[in-house]
Amino acid sequence: MQTGFTREDASQPPSLFPPYASTIARSPRHALIRIPQHTLTECSGPAGDWTRLMGPAMADLTRQHAAEPIGQRIRISGQVIDEDRRPVPHTMIEIWQCNAAGRYIHAKDQWDAPIDPNFTGAGRVVTDEKGRYDLMTIRPGAYPWGNHKNAWRPSHIHLSLLGPAFATRLVTQLYFPDDPLIEIDAIANAVPLAARARMVARFDIATTQPNYALGYIFDIVLRGQDTTPFEAPHG
Ligand SMILES: [Fe+2]
Repeated sequence: MQTGFTREDASQPPSLFPPYASTIARSPRHALIRIPQHTLTECSGPAGDWTRLMGPAMADLTRQHAAEPIGQRIRISGQVIDEDRRPVPHTMIEIWQCNAAGRYIHAKDQWDAPIDPNFTGAGRVVTDEKGRYDLMTIRPGAYPWGNHKNAWRPSHIHLSLLGPAFATRLVTQLYFPDDPLIEIDAIANAVPLAARARMVARFDIATTQPNYALGYIFDIVLRGQDTTPFEAPHG
């Protein structure tokens, strides 16, 4: 029986994956110690009162500034479900991403690609009673990241999910189905092959906004054999 999140589960990337260079220094050198019981704080707070804590949703990343950002508009929609495929409502989904040229608004991102004054790249939504969510953004660009000679990250969006308590957290990345960089990306390849496709969104014509934005479906499974892999931001 699975008693909690285990880093080395079959669907999860291992702590140490040498092609992903920074895992060499940061992976544990000793056996992990299982925490036998979560504390009350981890299990009860903040109880899903996200709007009060964090403010209203920021579901449209293309309308956060005076004008629209450069790039292909995309709508991303999906459902958060548990291991028995039951919807998971009231879950905070935060996303962050680079702009269409592959540049983040971040002091440490010094790549020579333009910053878009009309794009911050941060958004958040809370799933509804059916576990559904809907976001509007632009497709992020690829960017070089120095893992090895000529390493490029595929287009991706980072996601953080917070359920009713601090212990119920998933951090992952969303990829796009037409991207040739996925198969040579050290981070995506750290995830076992059988689970890798779960991080790739599905193009869906019914999700497009006609004459306005392309549409993708990205369902997120929390735990169980179909679980969405945990994929932390790179560094
Ligand atoms: Fe990234």
